[in-house]
Amino acid sequence: MAATSGSREAFGTRAGFILAAAGSAVGLGNMWRFSYQASEGGGAAFVLLYVCMTLLLGIPLMLAEFGLGRRGQLAPIGSLRRLGGPAWARLGYVFVAAGLMILAYYSVIAGWTIRYAIEAVLHGFSASAGEHFGAVASGGDAVAFHIGFMVLTILIVVGGVKGGIERASLILMPMLFLIVIGLAVWATTLDGAGEGYAVYLKPDLNELKNPTVWRAAAAQAFFSLSLGMGAMLTFASYLRRDQNLPESATVVAFTDFGVAFVAGLIVFPVIYSLSLQGAVGASTVGALFIALPSAFEAMGGAGRVVGLLFFVTLAVGALTSAISLLEVVTASMMDEIGLSRRKAAIATGAVITALGILPALSTETLGLMDKIAGELLLVAGALATAILAGWRVRSEVEAELIAGASPFWARQVPRILGVLRFAAPPIVATVLFFSVRETIAAFASYFAG
Ligand code: TRP
Repeated sequence: MAATSGSREAFGTRAGFILAAAGSAVGLGNMWRFSYQASEGGGAAFVLLYVCMTLLLGIPLMLAEFGLGRRGQLAPIGSLRRLGGPAWARLGYVFVAAGLMILAYYSVIAGWTIRYAIEAVLHGFSASAGEHFGAVASGGDAVAFHIGFMVLTILIVVGGVKGGIERASLILMPMLFLIVIGLAVWATTLDGAGEGYAVYLKPDLNELKNPTVWRAAAAQAFFSLSLGMGAMLTFASYLRRDQNLPESATVVAFTDFGVAFVAGLIVFPVIYSLSLQGAVGASTVGALFIALPSAFEAMGGAGRVVGLLFFVTLAVGALTSAISLLEVVTASMMDEIGLSRRKAAIATGAVITALGILPALSTETLGLMDKIAGELLLVAGALATAILAGWRVRSEVEAELIAGASPFWARQVPRILGVLRFAAPPIVATVLFFSVRETIAAFASYFAG
């Protein structure tokens, strides 16, 4: 165990930690995943459920990870061993496995965003967006862009917590916020924007009776908030005891929801102004990469500029998220085997790059990996985290969360932990039940088709 509290890297500023955590949360999940889930889950009905899940599950679980990480002062495997005993270290291995798998396919999608941004500069978007997406989403080009994106991610993680992760977040996140807001303002000027807003913001309440939508909203909350695999835990392990953790968790969760919500205010008007809603329903994985480019193409020169900004934002969000995924695996290798940061980041990055060749060669494989790691493993990980922090080591976590909190936030800690103890486990267990069923069905159709 090379790293102890004394020698451990640390974030330089409080804002640096919050922006890094927000950078982990805000990513492809906010724009790519949120919009297609909302369009499938009854628009605002999904958004409503999603807000409930963020409040009921997201904030308490993020706080649990923050508490465990800052208490443990090690990457997930080490922190869980230190706090929960050797049996809980196994959960840390599950986290690492989830991180490996998520980053492998996440990087492929990030590669698409970079490709689209470059294409916007070079020659604009393709008129036959569906065929174009089919041609570039998998195959040699997809592999090449995936490798390029992984190299960028590895370079930042090699730079360290302060010099790499914190610095990148301090530059990239404000840039992302500005562009997203600018694009949402621009979207108000579109003809037909009203119809898009209506579909997005008028709830189809029938969908509230559909358990699949509930499950999707909960799983989306874990994915979007980077919960259930120790990413937030790892970042919090680089903190000293002066950070106000309950306040930070609330700020990060609302920032993440804010970006997802505003992204919807861009995506829906763009798609409805050109009546492209069919393209979103037709393909989940590719929805954004087909409907939006065709819209941008139809808008001529302005569309090219706006589209460029949109895909740059996606790529930036993806990069700050990918950093956190790689950091979980890298930090685990550093703490467990005593590798240097440089060696650990390059070795784990190379393994992930190799694994990512599979989803880069088939969007079906990509979708299946998203179901297994991006949903099932996260939900299972979140359930275990809630039990560990809420029951097994509750008093330690509670003391940790109160340390550094202002009086107001310190008073909220027992309340939030109450939700974590009593509300989160049964809800997450129910979600897990449905996720297992859905994953089995996804397996069956993957191997049948
Ligand atoms: N939250 C990111 C997004 O919305 C993805 C992500 C980064 C993630 N780190 C994670 C998801 C850890 C789950 C766990 O795009």
